[in-house]
Amino acid sequence: MKKDLISITDFSKDEYLRIMELAADFEANPNQDLLKGKVVASLFFEPSTRTRLSFETAISRLGGRIVGFADPDSSSATKGETLHDTIKMVCNYADLIVMRHPLEGASRYAAEVSSVPVINAGDGANQHPTQTLLDMYSILKTQGTLDNLNLFMVGDLKYGRTVHSLLQAMSEFENPIFNFIAPENLQMPPGYKHHLDVRGIRYFEHEEFTDIISEADIIYMTRVQKERFSDPIEYEKVKDVYILNKAMLEKTKPNVRILHPLPRVNEISTDVDSSEKAYYFEQARNGVFAREAIISHVMNLK
Ligand code: CP
Repeated sequence: MKKDLISITDFSKDEYLRIMELAADFEANPNQDLLKGKVVASLFFEPSTRTRLSFETAISRLGGRIVGFADPDSSSATKGETLHDTIKMVCNYADLIVMRHPLEGASRYAAEVSSVPVINAGDGANQHPTQTLLDMYSILKTQGTLDNLNLFMVGDLKYGRTVHSLLQAMSEFENPIFNFIAPENLQMPPGYKHHLDVRGIRYFEHEEFTDIISEADIIYMTRVQKERFSDPIEYEKVKDVYILNKAMLEKTKPNVRILHPLPRVNEISTDVDSSEKAYYFEQARNGVFAREAIISHVMNLK
């Protein structure tokens, strides 16, 4: 049976740990010819810098070849071809499909239609499971553990697919505490809070975080996603609510690390970049190793 990665909950805790092991192996030795003779389709129906380029780097480092598009305007979707027909065609050409799409559920649908494995590279405001696996690898590298961590998630928790996947994955580990910092109308959706409630996991909701920042092990900043707002006035009201600056880090623990899936707009001041607590550019680098690991796992290459 083919293996897809559509939601982070498609993988078990043991699989998360296996991906962490494989990512460390690829970090030590990135060039391994495991995909020699294979073709991977990279279908990006929505803009991307890190996810697309790190996937394409991972595929190249594994010795595979890439077909696809970065801009759906260059595909026959503009002529009215359905996602169903596009996927039916592409799985004739490729051994694996990596797909980003603006519609929630589009990757699940693609996986149902496809005869080859599908990896979700982000579907609307729903899930971004490969980002989560690189985030976990970054957390493990910086904290030495995935257990007993106090995770601050800041910004757009309603539309932020990265925090949705990360919450679900980290809830599999020992004794996490979640602090959700967001304006009331961008708070974590009820379904994700229910996921924590049924597991008896503690979480707290705040609109400010300067007074509690000293408790954090990980501060996961997110961008307020203009493209998900139907009303531009609503976006203007919340776009500058949280801006992390270097002075705010004075009160934080020595081990705290600032993560951000990127791109940032202005939610992390550039003066934070020189802090040893800033980890977002290294986090993006970890994406190559995590994605080599994910491809290897899904394709059963290692
Ligand atoms: N983190 C992330 O998904 O970035 P891109 O949108 O640039 O791929």
